[in-house]
Amino acid sequence: MWLSCGCASKYVVSFSRRVFKSYFHVLGRWRCNVAALMPEAAGFEGVSGHSALQEFSVSHSASFWAAAARQRLSWISPFHTAQDCDLSRGEIKWFEGGKLNVSVNCLDRHVHACPERVALIWERDEPGSEVKITYRQLLEMTCRLGNLLRRRGVRKGDCVSIYMPPCPLAVASMLACARIGAAHNVVFAGFSAEALAERIRDAQSSTVITVNQGVRGGKVTELKKAVDTALQSCPTVQQVFVAMRTDNPVAMTARDIVMEEEMLKEDLVCEPAAMDSEDVLFLLYTSGSTGKPKGLVHTQAGYLLYAALTHKYVFNYSDGDVFGCVADIGWITGHSYSVYGPLANGGTTVLFESTPIYPDPGRYWEMVQRLKINQFYGAPTAIRLLLKYGDQWVHKYDRSTLKTLGSVGEPINTEAWEWYHRVVGDGRCPVVDTWWQTETGGICITPRPSEPDAEIVPGMAMRPFFGIKPVLMDTKGKVLTSNDTSGALCIAQPWPGMARTIHNNHQRFIETYCQPYPGYFFTGDGAYRSKEGYYQITGRLDDVINVCGHRIGTAEIEDVVNQYPAVAESAIIGYPHNIKGQGVYAFVVLKKGVKIQEEELSRQLNNMVLKKIAKYACPDFIQFVHRLPKTRSGKIMRRVLRKVVEQDLDGLGDLSTLDDPAAVEEIIQGHRELC
Ligand code: PRX
Repeated sequence: MWLSCGCASKYVVSFSRRVFKSYFHVLGRWRCNVAALMPEAAGFEGVSGHSALQEFSVSHSASFWAAAARQRLSWISPFHTAQDCDLSRGEIKWFEGGKLNVSVNCLDRHVHACPERVALIWERDEPGSEVKITYRQLLEMTCRLGNLLRRRGVRKGDCVSIYMPPCPLAVASMLACARIGAAHNVVFAGFSAEALAERIRDAQSSTVITVNQGVRGGKVTELKKAVDTALQSCPTVQQVFVAMRTDNPVAMTARDIVMEEEMLKEDLVCEPAAMDSEDVLFLLYTSGSTGKPKGLVHTQAGYLLYAALTHKYVFNYSDGDVFGCVADIGWITGHSYSVYGPLANGGTTVLFESTPIYPDPGRYWEMVQRLKINQFYGAPTAIRLLLKYGDQWVHKYDRSTLKTLGSVGEPINTEAWEWYHRVVGDGRCPVVDTWWQTETGGICITPRPSEPDAEIVPGMAMRPFFGIKPVLMDTKGKVLTSNDTSGALCIAQPWPGMARTIHNNHQRFIETYCQPYPGYFFTGDGAYRSKEGYYQITGRLDDVINVCGHRIGTAEIEDVVNQYPAVAESAIIGYPHNIKGQGVYAFVVLKKGVKIQEEELSRQLNNMVLKKIAKYACPDFIQFVHRLPKTRSGKIMRRVLRKVVEQDLDGLGDLSTLDDPAAVEEIIQGHRELC
């Protein structure tokens, strides 16, 4: 039970029996045997099933989360108010008055209880060369790094940008920030120098942590060089810590610090900062429907609690299991389910540095066999890719340790779901299709929020997690109460894991999430609710697309394409792609009189997107057109473009508001020639 691990240091306040008693008094009326669902919440007596507890968690949200927070987190001082939220104003506060340290929760208490338990298994790019790091070692790394950052002037409230692939030093960097009270801003190491620079500037970091080079799929990437390029336009940055992933030296400048060398000079003990529950833990940039990525802000206690609870229940994680989330730490999935959730639960978590097909398409399953992975959590795009290579790559390896298979980031089509279940899981492992977002902090809708035997319908995210109340809205902003209906997916009340704001732009936070349906959190997704009341995500309702499980705003790509001198304007559309989920299709109008060979121009536009964003954002198709279909008021009719690239000409709909109907004919013709 948690409490036995919960007295790790003087910073941990022991759990108060009195508080629990009063909570159980409230719960007592429920007479439900919650202990069967949440065994460590001893005293939740008599709950008759998941739905009773789910209902309670929604109707008595403050009491439910207060009990969970006392149970699961170690506090330096207790909170006095569990919940103080006003969704319509975007004011969200959980566990006010409480002080804690996230790194103590993820490390110290486990070191106290079981120091030699493996915390991280670093599955390096080279198969068979994994590195295991115990809780004791990870705490030591974190403390040395925390001391180093402090000695070099990083203070509580600063924001440190981290540009590293998944590796123990990246996790130690995140936790070292948490230890000293700095926020971190992890930037996906696949982002270009310019995308990195934009995120460093917005976060106003003065410190960056990186590696000399990355290694992925047998290829070396020049991460330190990318940082050097980025910093040419980041005047706030004063120092760069460089860890050595390869033996190859890289050019160092006066502001660069060799990280491992300097860490060795530091003490193994680092005083943890006492953080308020609502202090910032991290920023994470994600795409929206404008060209500028938004830095979503997650705070300390609520985020950690939600990551820990979802990790435990959604995946049926037990003590001693090896949890294999193959997402990169640069995305929210890596934050919540490679790092914070598993470590808060004292688990063993895999950091996957490679690709699903390196050195061959058996990579995942060979790793499952070698590391004895119990829960495997990945993206549908990889599953779709692997199923094309055939079952033999799966059958070659022993997967008998697997208990749960998870899917995240995009809809999983039935073929991929069936293959994952039947071939990878031998028909005996539940597949949990988990729906959530960078904004939600953790999983919100998932087939088995707690019950190990609940029914699962292929391709459906199914049921809300504890404390989550999903609602569907019609086009007029009215709540749809019946089943067998589709609408805009909103969440009716706050939960501890949700983002609090957009860094430096609370107004944008309110406008994006709180104003579309006042009093509700708007997710940007559409969903269908079945006759039985189960949820299925139908896709984005805005101009955000999902390529290989990576989210990108079409406006971001358009901004880059439009910068090219010969380009007058462009429209980027997502289209169905059988491996990537969605592909990127660009319609480009050139300036009058421009004479450039189209093939060469396509190459240059692709290079620009690669240079300014990342490889995954590069268009698969570029169609040059004389004009885009527009309304008389000059608005691009994206609906029409979407139907053309989806090859659904019957669905073009009403074209009477078009300024120039001939534009559509030209586009259809050009599309046929290109594809
Ligand atoms: O459209 C939804 C899709 O991914 C979006 C969130 O992207 P991001 O913030 O990058 O986080 C990805 C990892 C949580 C959502 O708005 N999405 C996520 N999970 C699913 C999904 N679409 C369908 N089914 C899912 N299980």
